[in-house]
Amino acid sequence: MYIISLYPNLKGRYNNEFTEKRHNKTADRFKMQKVDIKKALAEKADAVNGKIKALLEQWTGIPTKLADAIDYVLAAPGKRVRAAIVLWCCELVGGRPAAPLRVKRGGRENDDALNAAAAIEMVHTYSLVHDDLPAMDDDDFRRGRPSCHKAFDEATAVLTGDALLTMAFEIIAAKTSGAKKAVEMMKVLAEAAGPAGMIAGQVNDLAAQNNGSSFEELHDIHINKTAKMFRASAMLGAIAADADEKQKETLASFGLTLGLGFQVADDIIDVSSTSRQLGKTAGKDAKQGKLTYPAIFGLKKSRENAEQIAHKAVDILEPFGDKAAVLKELALSLVNRTK
Ligand code: IPE
Ligand code: IPE
Ligand code: MG
Ligand code: MG
Ligand code: MG
Repeated sequence: MYIISLYPNLKGRYNNEFTEKRHNKTADRFKMQKVDIKKALAEKADAVNGKIKALLEQWTGIPTKLADAIDYVLAAPGKRVRAAIVLWCCELVGGRPAAPLRVKRGGRENDDALNAAAAIEMVHTYSLVHDDLPAMDDDDFRRGRPSCHKAFDEATAVLTGDALLTMAFEIIAAKTSGAKKAVEMMKVLAEAAGPAGMIAGQVNDLAAQNNGSSFEELHDIHINKTAKMFRASAMLGAIAADADEKQKETLASFGLTLGLGFQVADDIIDVSSTSRQLGKTAGKDAKQGKLTYPAIFGLKKSRENAEQIAHKAVDILEPFGDKAAVLKELALSLVNRTK
């Protein structure tokens, strides 16, 4: 951490070399099948981006300014990690791969998973639009572009977030293949995003600024603001595939664990990556006195923690063996990421 802050131009490079080595070591230890995770994630991102585009094109009656802002934030290059989790978890428990943009390969595609993937990315994008507002984290950059309230204005950013959140539920309600499945999906998403989930995390994240809170509070914040949405992603995929209760439970637990690791990594890269790498302002957490892993443990211990959490996530998927190779690789790559 100190080396990095003394030599800011070493930041990104140090991180890359460090992460590659550690990643290979862990993959060997878990005897993991090799997966080109970048390519696999890009495929899923393409699929969900196509679905989001198609959904927006069909949507009528949205005022031009609002439609422009919705397009602006959804077209920005998010990693689409939550969408990929929905799709991979669906495939893992027997759902057909969702690929409605291509010719159907015999039988029905699982469009329920792809719609749910689009929906959760909308809820996630709304959370970022609001998170960046001056009243919250006050960040002028997101996904490599001016934040919504900078490109438009604050009122538009508030309303764009409101719209995205509502649209997600309309999509699931209108597009899911059965009413029972739709209700189950909406319940899962609402619980994750709602007042005892992501909003609880966001409220406590703001309250914990500059007040020397404990590790228990930090853990609780990370579980609520981020991990529960990851758990919901995994569960949406499982529900789309009509998974049994045991499978749902296993995937829920994987999602929650991965989500925790993901937020620990987010705390780490705020310190160790550059704004250019992140597409959002680096170094903000310390400046704003945020309660983060590096603030409590320092960078080295935080990396160890993130890695341990990823190992736990990989372990949870052990019953699926190599069938879960891509999700296991995702878990390792997300805690060792630089952006
Ligand atoms: C950022 O999420 C906010 C957190 C919960 C850490 P991502 O890192 O997934 O952001 P995008 O979607 O790729 O922009
Ligand atoms: C945000 O956490 C979690 C959300 C629910 C949006 P952060 O505030 O750390 O996310 P970034 O770093 O701004 O993306
Ligand atoms: Mg925040
Ligand atoms: Mg923020
Ligand atoms: Mg952050």
